[in-house]
Amino acid sequence: MEKKWWQTKVAYQIYPKSFYDSNGDGIGDLQGIIRKLDYLRDLGVDILWLSPVYVSPLADQGYDIADYYDIDPRFGTMQDMDQLIAEAKKRGLHIIMDLVVNHCSDENIWFRKACEDPEGRYGKFFYLRTVKPGEPLPTNWRSYFGGPVWDRLPGHDDIYYLHVFHKKQPDLNWENPDLREEVYKMINWWLDKGISGFRIDAIINIKKALPMRSYPVDREDGLADIGQMLEEAEGIGEFLGEMRDRCFAPHDAFTVGEVFHEKPEDIPLFIGDGGYFSSMYDFAESVLGQSPRGWHRNDPITPDDYKHALFGTQKKIGNTGFISIILENHDQPRGVSYFLPEGVRTPAAKKMLATGYFFVRGLPWIYQGQELGMENTVIRSIEEVDDISTLDQYRVAIEDDVPAEEALRIVVRQSRDNARTPYQWTGGDNAGFMETAAPGARPWLPVNPNYRELNLEAEAADPDSVYNYYRQLIRLRKDPAYTDALIYGDLVPYLEETSNALCYLRKGESHTLLIMTNWQDAPQTLPLPGQVRKVLLNNMEDSDIRPCDGGALSIRLEGWQALVLELG
Ligand code: GLC
Ligand code: CA
Repeated sequence: MEKKWWQTKVAYQIYPKSFYDSNGDGIGDLQGIIRKLDYLRDLGVDILWLSPVYVSPLADQGYDIADYYDIDPRFGTMQDMDQLIAEAKKRGLHIIMDLVVNHCSDENIWFRKACEDPEGRYGKFFYLRTVKPGEPLPTNWRSYFGGPVWDRLPGHDDIYYLHVFHKKQPDLNWENPDLREEVYKMINWWLDKGISGFRIDAIINIKKALPMRSYPVDREDGLADIGQMLEEAEGIGEFLGEMRDRCFAPHDAFTVGEVFHEKPEDIPLFIGDGGYFSSMYDFAESVLGQSPRGWHRNDPITPDDYKHALFGTQKKIGNTGFISIILENHDQPRGVSYFLPEGVRTPAAKKMLATGYFFVRGLPWIYQGQELGMENTVIRSIEEVDDISTLDQYRVAIEDDVPAEEALRIVVRQSRDNARTPYQWTGGDNAGFMETAAPGARPWLPVNPNYRELNLEAEAADPDSVYNYYRQLIRLRKDPAYTDALIYGDLVPYLEETSNALCYLRKGESHTLLIMTNWQDAPQTLPLPGQVRKVLLNNMEDSDIRPCDGGALSIRLEGWQALVLELG
């Protein structure tokens, strides 16, 4: 595997709307990010991914772009963006943007022109189909946010357009070279501005299995999940390879793909040397237990499920490339609320969870607030929900006869809103999210009620906080003494069949490190594969870690303990 500048880094996702509001209108903004750059530098992260800040009606929180070349006034101006790029650079930070090109917004000029003239140039930027009255829709695919993927083209009775996400997110027709040229022009425009790359949204959807056809119905709504279509779609590599050659490679851009449904044999093409992307996310843990029939039919997951998913990806990728590893993002509930057993929310357990994922082979990502151990929020009624996907899943559960209270409990646990509440900077008003609040102004989404205790200000002052532990994790991963093991070393699962223990070795040329985590209340005594030379990290600083039995090769881990040991 080729060595690249970004492999030794730590990446951080900013959800701008909820990060820091500099002008008191309740919406986080670019000036807010600029004000917190020193914080991010001191935390130790290097690559900052911004969820979309382009002009957008925010039907899907900015993942519906109305103008790829401008900033939404709610977030600031292009001047603010240029300032952010420059200020980040001064601090050695890299900005990457969200590249959303499977679809745009129905308010994008391309789509508006397609509505005016479906036969013209812009009509061909989309998937349009004629459907005469009484005829069925072209296919029975279900959109990701519920309902059919076909909607009537505004202004036309018998023309329909395709949207695999929300109806305000019409799919772009990648089969059309003219559209692809427009997309590449836009990507290069941004890269020329000085951003370091992109996180690439929903990219696997750009290739449709053609000619389009229907699939077996799998829910009461009479529609079919589009997973099967995506599996049948051949030839996405032509688009991705072209995009790499025309945009990413000439700029040596760092890119990370949001990729689901990839075919195992395609992994080297995606993230091997010279692949389409620098990296892609490991979603094996986040999709655990998920049912295509709705969140209410998901299976509960156990610590062992988590471990097997994590190792499964590691084995699949091996040394082919560098996967990106996450605990959470803006599409998922908070990792500590989802992966730790119900009711276990202690700082020790949160640190243990962090230790387990942070040192596997790949690039670790932190989602804003994760470094504080931020938790799922409290949502008391469905009217309080903002996220379109949560609202859809609630409806699906109700239609499947789940009692309303139960349906609410289920969707709230998994809601994307959990990750989207404002960052908890202080224990003061609105968790310090708004720098100045105009009278009556409130954050766009209510702050998590636990902000009085759980906030950066409190954690920065407490040496044993989750936040200070994250700083240690980052420092250790970047310690040049351990680069051979922690960045480039092999990952070897250890005690893989021991329940509630996630342990692995990172073996470099000159060092071998052992990461051990105990996922239960009760202590576990576990064998060691060699002598411990040094304890590099311990989430229970005052616990006594002497190898048991006067140096015999076993060690006792307390409940929720995590250790990083150097063997020798
Ligand atoms: C990705 C984004 C998600 C969005 C979807 C449609 O999955 O992460 O937030 O809803 O794409 O763009
Ligand atoms: Ca603002």
